[in-house]
Amino acid sequence: MNSTNTSPPSFVNGNNAGGAFENTAPLGMSMSVHGNARKVTTHTLQEMKRAGEKITMLTAYDYSLARLVDQAGVDVILVGDSASNVMAGQATTVPMTLDHMIYHAQCVERAVDRALLVVDMPFGTYQGNSRHALDSAIRIMKEASGHAVKLEGGSEIVESVERILTAGIPVMGHLGLTPQSIYKFGTYSVRAKEDTEAEKLIEDAKLLEAAGCFAIVLEKIPRELAKKVAQSISIPTIGIGAGPDVDGQVLVLHDLLGITMDFSPRFLRRYLNLAEEIDGALKSYCGDVRSGDFPNDEESYTS
Ligand code: KIV
Repeated sequence: MNSTNTSPPSFVNGNNAGGAFENTAPLGMSMSVHGNARKVTTHTLQEMKRAGEKITMLTAYDYSLARLVDQAGVDVILVGDSASNVMAGQATTVPMTLDHMIYHAQCVERAVDRALLVVDMPFGTYQGNSRHALDSAIRIMKEASGHAVKLEGGSEIVESVERILTAGIPVMGHLGLTPQSIYKFGTYSVRAKEDTEAEKLIEDAKLLEAAGCFAIVLEKIPRELAKKVAQSISIPTIGIGAGPDVDGQVLVLHDLLGITMDFSPRFLRRYLNLAEEIDGALKSYCGDVRSGDFPNDEESYTS
């Protein structure tokens, strides 16, 4: 007798190779909570926190790099509004629009088979009006097939978080340095060094957890505070410049690969120096064309 498949259908890439919610092995039975074949869900991340397994997260903004990131087994791919800096050359993330984010998310979504796909809600699409926030989040889910959205802020935006959640859209929070508020902060320096701001951050983290967020990014805060937050809430905390005692780490892909060489914060570890490699390759190409070495006979068609 055939068993009935009760898993919800896949919404990733429209393929049936395995639903986004498909759990073929009960959690805890495999060697790792995030065995490579399984698609990552918000529940996977929560199980990883419980199991003490670190979560990996990276940004991506285009198909080709997103494919490599997904194939490398990164758990969460964030279509970050850092696309504003990295892809568009803007000084801040403020100019990013919902249409821009949807375009990047569509490109990335086509590449993703395994990772959880989180899409940043850009500045001006969720603050101050929860109905507007819900409409924006729905556009991201319908037009770009995102799996979840990320919003910056705490108590100020909790109403929007709750409203988005009523539609069944998972929400990731983002506290600490929130780059969309750069004109309020004035600098990109470390946040919450003072007690008052640190206490508010802990309260905000608890508020976001109570509202139903599935995880929170903690950006550029003292490691001791990040550890305290990670221990105070049961949902995963993903750090960027928040030290090692959180549940996972996120970096901007182009920083990790050494493409954006003019950005060197203390927290950044570069795994490649791609800017130099690319420069060398491009200079070789120009030299080969100019000298007549490229293309050679083997690189040419004959009649
Ligand atoms: O936009 C982004 O890339 C982000 C990460 C830095 C967390 O929000």
